Formats: sequence, structure tokens, C-alpha cells
Amino acid sequence: MSGLSSRSARNLAGDIRAPGDKSISHRALMIGAMAVGETTISGLLEGEDVRRTAAALAAMGVGVSQQESGVWRVQGVGVGGLAEPASVLDMGNSGTGARLLMGMLATHPFTVHMTGDESLCRRPMGRIAEPIERMGAQVIARDGGRMPLAVRGAADPVPIIYQPPVASAQIKSAVLLAGLNTPGQTTVIEPRPSRDHTELMLRHFGAELEIDEGSDGSRRITLTGQPELSARDVTVPGDPSSAAFPGVAALLVPGSVVTIRGVGLNPLRAGLFATLIDMGADITIGAQRIEAGEPVGDLTFRGGAPGSLRGIDVPASRAPSMIDEYPILAVAAAFATGTTRMHGLAELRVKESDRLAAIARGLSLCGVKCAIEQDSLVVEGNGQKPPGGALVAAELDHRIAMSFLVLGIAAERPVEIDDGETIDTSFPDFAGLMNGLGASITEVGGNA
Ligand code: S3P
Repeated sequence: MSGLSSRSARNLAGDIRAPGDKSISHRALMIGAMAVGETTISGLLEGEDVRRTAAALAAMGVGVSQQESGVWRVQGVGVGGLAEPASVLDMGNSGTGARLLMGMLATHPFTVHMTGDESLCRRPMGRIAEPIERMGAQVIARDGGRMPLAVRGAADPVPIIYQPPVASAQIKSAVLLAGLNTPGQTTVIEPRPSRDHTELMLRHFGAELEIDEGSDGSRRITLTGQPELSARDVTVPGDPSSAAFPGVAALLVPGSVVTIRGVGLNPLRAGLFATLIDMGADITIGAQRIEAGEPVGDLTFRGGAPGSLRGIDVPASRAPSMIDEYPILAVAAAFATGTTRMHGLAELRVKESDRLAAIARGLSLCGVKCAIEQDSLVVEGNGQKPPGGALVAAELDHRIAMSFLVLGIAAERPVEIDDGETIDTSFPDFAGLMNGLGASITEVGGNA
């Protein structure tokens, strides 16, 4: 474990691409594995989380190989074609990899043991066990439905109609992926729509999927089971959740101009950009286009004068479209003029860390006034640079680590995080890319 430190930068400038989308990368590998034939994936995120998914699939008989940087080939085994792995699957830090795979394995008739790092072993898996047990799988987990756990897949799965208790793309995707090898129709009814990359990717590979919007904002997704999926090439867009870090850094350092190309702009992911624009941020979106069924665009972020962002209320309805972006939004709010209230954040307590607590602790250490009020986070900005000058614990949470490094880039004094390695889960060479824009992120006691 090695620390990183960031200190105040003069204006940031550059024209970059964000790393590949993590959510889409996991799905391209998994759904490619369920297809017949060879799928080529370009722009795959080569972060630690996605590599764990690739390794898990390889351990179950799927041919997964890197052709060149960012280009991977998957030899699909067809729906229901995975083979029993010889040893425990270690999903590392990846909640998405673990939960989506649990879904796929629910309808493969063998037993798989799964584990993860300390962070993943704290996270609730009962939310996946519950629906897949209804489909006929068995899950044996530690107390609280946590990992390590074993999934015994159903030999004769039954389709279900499932209404997840929270808007979670991971729960929805696990049920749909379990539905792939289930006869009949598997339905998920979401209270509020969550990211729909699984639906788009399943359709891309030829699955039959019906999607109906309810008048109450709910969404009903019905998958017809046991389709013949055919291999398709996939181009993975840049991850909006990763673009958020250089983007917000540019907004917070006056005079900066940073363009990030090919950023995924799926409306169910782009809540942060809308929120920042509501706060008065100068963000322009150009060259909007569709790539592999997903909207993408080029985003330019321009840093304004200190205090030019305004505090606002962010309603709970926006949470599913920016669920991973609250740590970096809270950092932006710390530089704003006025109070930002972010509502509906209960799910942040069960991410890679308890993010509500981690954000509040880190901001307080950096001299920012903030409070947790039930499921809301309140950050008070005074239009000035926050003091910074703190050591923040990353808590095995890549987004906490990157958020506080961004705070250090724009604060009065440097900010240190105790563990920079966790960033590799989603953003390999984050420090190198930021330094290329003019930031100064260094290893504690060395160079980045
Ligand atoms: C993800 C869904 C989100 C998000 C996670 C990735 C996905 O989790 O926090 O980083 O790829 O489906 P929930 O769907 O559980 O909110």
C-alpha cells in the first residue's frame, strides 16, 4: 500500500480520452462469453476489476485474451455453457463483477465458491441471493449474506417476476443474466430506472427484450430466456464516472480548459454533468453520436473564478443516474458558494466503503463544513478554496481516493491519501493522466 499526494496546480489543459467504461466492460465480457463465436471488444477498461471478471470467465472455460492494449477477444461458450471452475473465484474489489456473475451462475448446474477483498467481503450479497434463490439456485454465505460464499446453480431454473427493493442495476442485471439460461420469460420491475447497459448489450448480442415504462416512473424489463446469442463486436465508450475526476479538477482550477473525448452520455449515467451545469459549471458537449448502441460525446470543462459554482439541492430522483459520483460532487460543492444538499443517498453506505461516512470524514479533515442528515449529505461552501492539508484514508475505495486527490489539486494545501493502489480498480494511470494535464500528484516519498 503506497500513498499519493496532490498539491495545488496552475491551470489544467489538455485533450484526453477517459478509460473505458467499467460497467460496460464487465458486461461485454460476460455477455460475449454467453454468445456463440468470437467477440472483439475495443476500448475495454484494463482496470483490476474488469481483469478479475476476465479471469473468472477464463476459469470457467471461456477463451479470453488480450490482442493489444484495450482490444480483447472472447470465445463465447453459448448460453448455459460455462464449466465448473477448479478453484475459488476471487473477484477482488468488484461488486459489479461478483454480483453479475452470481446471476449468471445461478442457472449453471454446478457449485462456485467466490470471495473478494476486505471491502467486497463487507458488502451485502443477500440482495442477489434472494432473487436467484427464487429461481432455484442455492447460496451459502457468511452472516449478513456476505462473501466468501458459494452459489449452487439450478439445474431446472424457473423464471420469475422480480421487483428489486432498491433501484440497482446490479440486482436487475443479475436477475436478467440468470434469466438467460432459464426457459420462459424473466421480468424485472424497477421502481426507478437504473443504468441500462445490460439491456442494451443483451439486445446488441441478439436477445429478445421488452421494455415498458410505467406512468409512475417504473420500468418493466422482460427477457425471453434461452436465446441463441451471436458474437458481436463491441466498442466500449469512455467512462463518465472516470471522466468526472479530470472534469471536476478542471472546473475547480481557474483558467483550465480540458476536453475529454468519447465519454459515455447514457442519460442513466450522466446525472453528474447535469448537476454541475445546474451549479453553474462551464461544460460544453460536442460531437454527440451513438457508438455500439450507447450515446457518447466530447466534453469540454472550463475552470471559472473561485466561488463561481453555486450550492444547490440535488433531488433523490437524480441518485440512480449519478450514484458513483457523489464523492466528486461533494468535492465540487466544497468549492461552491452556498450549501449543496444531496438527497436519497442510503445506497452510498454499501459501496466500496461507507461513502457517506468517508466523504464527510475526509471533507471535515480538509476543513470543509459538512453533515450527514439521515440519507442526505450537506456540504457548505464559502466560495473560497478549502484549506486541504490533510491525510485521508482511501478505505479500499478508488472513488474516495481520486476525489480527495482532486480536492488537493485545487485546495490551499496538499492532500494525501494513504493508499493509491486502489485507484487501479477503475482508472489505471490516473496520476499519470492528471499530471499530463498539469496536476502534481506524487507518490508519498517519491515520484508518481
Ligand atoms: C453498477 C451499478 C451501480 C454502481 C456500480 C456499478 C453496474 O451499483 O454503483 O459502481 O455496473 O451495474 P448499484 O446498481 O448496486 O447501485
